[in-house]
Amino acid sequence: MCGIVGYAGPDRESSRGLEVVLEGLARLEYRGYDSAGVAVVTGGGIATQKRAGRLSRLTSALQERPLPGGSAAVGHTRWATHGGPTDANAHPHVSPDGSVALIHNGIIENYAALRAELGEGGAVFLSETDTEVVAHLLAAEISTAGSRGGAQALAAAMRAVCQRLEGSFTLLVVHADAPGVVVGARRNSPLVVGLGDGENYLGSDVSAFISRTKRALELGQDQVVTITADEVGVTDLDGAAVDATPYTVDWDADAAEKGGFPWFMAKEIHEQPRAVADTLLGRSDASGAMTLDEMHVDPSVLRAIDKIIVVACGTAAFAGHVAKYAIEHWCRVPVEVDLAHEFRYRDPVLTHRTLVVAISQSGETMDLVMAVRHAREQGSKVLAICNTRGSTIPRESDAALYTHAGPEIAVASTKAFLSQVAACYLLGLYLAQLRGNLFPDEVATLVAQLRDVPDAVQTVVDAADEVRELARELVDSPTVLFLGRHVGYPVALEGALKLKELAYIHAEGFAAGELKHGPIALVEPGVPVFVIVPSPRGRDQLHAKVLSNAAEVRARGARTIAIAEVGDDAVLDHADVVIRVPAVPTLMAPLVTVVPLQIFAMEVATAKGYDVDQPRNLAKSVTVE
Ligand code: G6P
Repeated sequence: MCGIVGYAGPDRESSRGLEVVLEGLARLEYRGYDSAGVAVVTGGGIATQKRAGRLSRLTSALQERPLPGGSAAVGHTRWATHGGPTDANAHPHVSPDGSVALIHNGIIENYAALRAELGEGGAVFLSETDTEVVAHLLAAEISTAGSRGGAQALAAAMRAVCQRLEGSFTLLVVHADAPGVVVGARRNSPLVVGLGDGENYLGSDVSAFISRTKRALELGQDQVVTITADEVGVTDLDGAAVDATPYTVDWDADAAEKGGFPWFMAKEIHEQPRAVADTLLGRSDASGAMTLDEMHVDPSVLRAIDKIIVVACGTAAFAGHVAKYAIEHWCRVPVEVDLAHEFRYRDPVLTHRTLVVAISQSGETMDLVMAVRHAREQGSKVLAICNTRGSTIPRESDAALYTHAGPEIAVASTKAFLSQVAACYLLGLYLAQLRGNLFPDEVATLVAQLRDVPDAVQTVVDAADEVRELARELVDSPTVLFLGRHVGYPVALEGALKLKELAYIHAEGFAAGELKHGPIALVEPGVPVFVIVPSPRGRDQLHAKVLSNAAEVRARGARTIAIAEVGDDAVLDHADVVIRVPAVPTLMAPLVTVVPLQIFAMEVATAKGYDVDQPRNLAKSVTVE
């Protein structure tokens, strides 16, 4: 949510800083795309340009009115919270004396009080944002301290101002009298440092500078960083030096390019077999025993766990919902699934015998950060399942199990979901092995079955034509319903979410058995209903029950589309269209059955002419509560 880029280099005349920042913004635009802006510290002061709308509007404005070169630059792409998406509300915000330009991600919760205080002193505000007050405060702090500009003065002012702020923020500031310097600060919102050769960078995430360097530094909570061409200094808010943790990014710039696909989402759907395979890699030995080296939670603690609560938001929560079925079945331990924003405020029962599993692609979702903190305060152990190294959620958890999906750029999550589900299976098998719920040969069989899943996913990805055709046929449907039972239920929820997010179509996912308790009233002739059909080889008559539910909607005129296993002939009597998927074990089926639904949503959105990668009103990483 809001993308932030900073650059500090040696050359006061060069346009390189602006180029680096604009390239970084292009890579970060998935975080928010309501408006964009840049500021450059030039020989003559600070020059800015900002525009409401997509980044392309800013770049056109810069072509019409180029900014002068400079050795420090910052850039911002916004997801609006306080104040609509207008030119005036776009960042950077400049102090009244023009000395300071500031960009911000997050929410300053006490901004109204600060604004009133500044207003009493005569301050005039040009925007409706919570950010502008901070630009005023920084400029005032520097002039009160009496030492204009300079890296030291700017960092000191940032520390002093941060002490007055409440809420969440990443702030980057440049000053007219501090050429070649960018100062940043973070609390609850993401900021990473890129270590270059004779220049340094700041970004909301590493994709901001991945084409320049893979060497990065993690910043902690309430830390202030100063970058120049040659130096990076980090302190806490009292000014004490801090050793930031260095790391190397394990993917390169190509991974963050579209690579010939029309959308990042299309590319990411195609990367799913690899994402699952890479997530499984190295986590079991040749005998099929689980070897989760990164589980830095004492085995005796894990053996004593009497409850697991999975917390997450959006698509990641549906991955958690799938995990519940698998972990309860394999480990015989109760698993609850909760949306992070509900969890935190419902006073959940947490003890030192509760394991909280926090699932997040970005590692920055604020609702989940708060849930993690709450769980740890209550004495529970927290395991993060995350795709982004150096991000807040794994940093603040007791242990982290990383998914290896590579960067996910499209706002709607696809490969992250599959790799999260795979990571949850790994966790379930590891716990079952550790706690003795499964025999070693049972674990080995399940591990072997899991290793076969990427090929099955590949088969579905390769067979997209039928789904594409269906999407064209159903493009004008006002409502689409999705039904599933058991692990098919979260798949139905995810299928509906994808269609809502991308195609702006009213879509609902239901537990198929719940249909008769209300939702069936929505079924009228012609309504498309997707039915996630479990394997006929599965247990507990699931297959027969779901086919009955398909028959119930079809009898009322619904256009019934079954997602069903190859060779399942019984389904033919109950569906108008059958999309085939390869046979996989029941608990692992979500990894294949969700894929046609992802493709369907993408194709409907494409047929409607919508921007698949950047759907309206959404942002990839939601760093506000
Ligand atoms: C946003 C995105 C969703 C994502 C959710 C959780 O709402 O639009 O696609 O599933 O955040 O994100 P996380 O990074 O925590 O997995």
